[in-house]
Amino acid sequence: MSDRYAVIGNPVAHSKSPWIHAQFARACGHDLEYVRIEPPRDAFGATVEAFCAAGGRGANVTLPFKQEAFRYCASVSARAREAQAVNTLVLDRGPVWGDNTDGVGLVRDLEINLGFAPRGRRVLVMGAGGAAQGVVPSLHAAGPERLVVANRSADRARALAARFEGATGCGYAELADVKFDLVVNATSAGLAGELPPLPPLETLVAPDALVYDMVYGRDTPFLALAREAGLRTSDGAGMLVEQAAESFLVWRGVRPDTQAVLASLRRG
Ligand code: ATR
Repeated sequence: MSDRYAVIGNPVAHSKSPWIHAQFARACGHDLEYVRIEPPRDAFGATVEAFCAAGGRGANVTLPFKQEAFRYCASVSARAREAQAVNTLVLDRGPVWGDNTDGVGLVRDLEINLGFAPRGRRVLVMGAGGAAQGVVPSLHAAGPERLVVANRSADRARALAARFEGATGCGYAELADVKFDLVVNATSAGLAGELPPLPPLETLVAPDALVYDMVYGRDTPFLALAREAGLRTSDGAGMLVEQAAESFLVWRGVRPDTQAVLASLRRG
């Protein structure tokens, strides 16, 4: 029987993870099956237990269960504790262990696929919800010169930034004239076709800045605005593939090559 893995989310029908992990498994010569599971919103724990009982060896966790998964795990990695969220469950090594590969997925996409190292640069993260919490620890660890978290509710931004030495949090209106080298949109505004209430981009970013939206598979008003301003942009496709590769490494002990999978995902 193939080794069993899953992605658990609600909704999950749109998830590309089964396809991505199937490509990784084929390239690495591993025999595994990877399915989608959509539990009711109040049945995360019962669903993990049932999947475990059916021989499940590991699972990815996506919205809205990442914080619940963090609380559910018997123990977690340091990076999951920093993110206070879990996107990767290991089920075949004793009590359930949780990890978070989102942040390292973003940083690997930036550094390897996009050739942008955050070290020594001025980095702005927009948003202070679960998505931002998942990536701020890794961005901080990547050694930026400045790390600012901006959010509509400024208090949330300040609370998130306060956990990381040297980082600052603020509302959008308080963004000083810093000229960021990297802006990461970690808000869910784009999913609703909305734009965070930013100051004009030309006051906010350096001319050679990279503007990144963690949303994958749709053009957000934020990316459209940045493109119109002639800035370099990226959606979250590379982060999606890199976080999956990191999860595959955690489960299977090998890091699959991501280039062919990312190119194929981009071709659609
Ligand atoms: P997620 O887990 O996807 O991050 P979340 O925890 O609900 O979801 O957080 C959503 C984030 O997007 C928050 O930072 C939210 O800002 P507030 O904390 O001020 O609510 C942000 N967000 C959602 N819609 C937005 C909009 N139209 N403009 C700006 N920020 C928005």
